[in-house]
Amino acid sequence: MSASVAEPWGKNVLVEFEEGIAWVSMNRPEKKNAISVDLAREMLATMDALETDPRCGVFVLTGSGDAWSAGMDLKDYFRATDDMPLVERNRVYAINGAWQWRRMLTYTKPTVAMVNGWCFGGAFTPLIACDLAIAADEAKFGLSEINWGIIPAGVVSKALTTVMSLRDQMYYVMTGETFDGTQASAMRLVNESVPLAQLRERTRKLAKTLLGKNPTVLRAAKTGVRMSGDLSWEQAAEYLTAKSDQTIASDTERGRDQGMKQFLDDKTFKPGLGAYKR
Ligand code: ACO
Repeated sequence: MSASVAEPWGKNVLVEFEEGIAWVSMNRPEKKNAISVDLAREMLATMDALETDPRCGVFVLTGSGDAWSAGMDLKDYFRATDDMPLVERNRVYAINGAWQWRRMLTYTKPTVAMVNGWCFGGAFTPLIACDLAIAADEAKFGLSEINWGIIPAGVVSKALTTVMSLRDQMYYVMTGETFDGTQASAMRLVNESVPLAQLRERTRKLAKTLLGKNPTVLRAAKTGVRMSGDLSWEQAAEYLTAKSDQTIASDTERGRDQGMKQFLDDKTFKPGLGAYKR
């Protein structure tokens, strides 16, 4: 009998499972879910655990209370680490980079940021690193670094370049003004925004769509998008051909055969309009 391993979440991170969806909340509502060292550690361990947890088919990142996340905890992540020996401080910073983007960008499960409220500074990194993002119209975003005397560092400035236009990046990095979910959607920082009252339902519907897809192919498809962006066309063609062959070979569900059979032979579905029956 294998020993049961304690779940790593429960304090700074909450996880609720619902039919294949893992609703993962940054959970320091009294601090607007500002990212402390402990929250970062707990989130990294949670991501690790959920990657192999069959209850998690889609990873939804959200926040407890009225915030998604007010960014890095200025007291705990910055002031308290200012006097640490550099090697120790770098280690603490690395934990944050590990969950916010190194792990998130290549996470094997689909990830959706559900932005329910305040979202500032360092919180833009996991927001952008998630595959998809749905915001409440009422959510408030801001690159507030300029307001308190730092630049959007970590990898915030880099992350912005992958989703926002140069004009929008410059405007909000330089002014520190806030914007709401509808503006975030217009700028393509998020896929769409909906009234807060509909946010969970819209996210649930999106997650269910993702759960209806072949997970092996879904993982390869998102990896293909992520990786080919920095390649030349020739390199991308080579890489994607190899990736496609690898996916077909490793797909135990044999989705490609199923898809063709159900469309061409059985005539039971239209690939243009939805997923084949699994
Ligand atoms: N770091 C540390 N503590 C924070 C943070 C943060 N990023 N954000 C909020 N808190 C704390 C507040 O200090 C306060 O603590 P207290 O109760 O001990 O006084 C508590 O959370 C509640 O916050 P309030 O400011 O009272 O909440 P309010 O609703 O009035 O304002 C808002 C919310 C606008 C989000 C405000 O808290 C704020 O401006 N936070 C900082 C946002 C920010 O600039 N983040 C850093 C981005 S830069 C980066 O991440 C690298």
